[in-house]
Amino acid sequence: MKKKIGILTSGGDCPGLNAAIAAVVSHATLTYNWEVWGIPYATQGLLERKAIALNLHGLDLHGIDPLLSIGGTILGSINKGDTLAHSKEIIASYEALDLDALIAIGGDGSLTILRELAKQGDWNLVAIPKTIDNDVAFTERAIGFDTAVNTVMDALNRLTYTAASHDRVMVVEVMGRTAGHLALHSGIAGGADIILIPEIPYSIAKICQKITELRDKWGQKFALIVVAEGAKTEEGKISCYRDSRGEVRMRGIGQYITEQIPACTNNQLETRLTILGHVQRGGLPSAWDRTIAAAFGKAAIDSIALEQYDRMVAWQNGEVVSVPLPLVLSQSPFLVNPNNFLIKTARSLGIYVGEE
Ligand code: F6P
Repeated sequence: MKKKIGILTSGGDCPGLNAAIAAVVSHATLTYNWEVWGIPYATQGLLERKAIALNLHGLDLHGIDPLLSIGGTILGSINKGDTLAHSKEIIASYEALDLDALIAIGGDGSLTILRELAKQGDWNLVAIPKTIDNDVAFTERAIGFDTAVNTVMDALNRLTYTAASHDRVMVVEVMGRTAGHLALHSGIAGGADIILIPEIPYSIAKICQKITELRDKWGQKFALIVVAEGAKTEEGKISCYRDSRGEVRMRGIGQYITEQIPACTNNQLETRLTILGHVQRGGLPSAWDRTIAAAFGKAAIDSIALEQYDRMVAWQNGEVVSVPLPLVLSQSPFLVNPNNFLIKTARSLGIYVGEE
């Protein structure tokens, strides 16, 4: 029987989403001869009963498929949490679209909402993990993380030269919400001297001690501090606010750290703050993100062929596996283990990552 598959992207965008959409369309069309329909703007599109036919080579330019390499998502996305207020209408609209299954590409927040809708509406749901925060449980990688790590690393490389030229302390605030994966990976790759993440408490005195030691012992007159947006103040307070729609947004920790440094370094050091913001979600997907996007897209279609629903495709030990979605959501967001090998690696490189 020819199936009609829906696909949507939900939550914050990231590079690699289009590569996953392309893989889903290719495998569904070439292997199973199924139809794939894109739902624009996730649950918003469902609510409005909108679906766009996605065809193999539909966006080709003389045979060049741009989907593999362009960032963002051609389907559009929304990043808000009030969707369940409209669950009845969304479920009625889903039925009207007459889909056999739905592939949802999202992070843990979006997947929690979509799974609830799928449960209420009895949908055949398969999830693909994406998020630059890399905090979806049971998958070593989510689409978008690798590209974001490279983007932050590139920014740190650039900031190193200007920091060194002016003997300054550069504080760089990076995304990640409550998880420190992005800060930790990019901080190590980008040569940070200090990495502050939500999972590990730190002391301002030790940060200043590290900066002084770099200067006095090693002759390094600048310092690079990477701070995750979800890192807490020394007293354990989260820096966030509610936007006009009531959504929690992270803001302020970079400013807080920047303001602490002068006092404990006898005002001898100039400190500057860079908030990388949505630059981290932009750009072309890395080779790794394109590769896992392709593997996830294929696996999601195979999961539908096997009628394995309420599951998420996941990257574990070099291959794609299928994990029950409720299990994934019960363990997400997946945070950095303060005793993991990367924390130990950072410490062995002389990077201050808090505590101790
Ligand atoms: O979850 C991805 C993410 O980029 C977080 O790292 C960040 O806190 C948030 O989304 C920003 O959301 P928005 O794009 O809605 O401002």
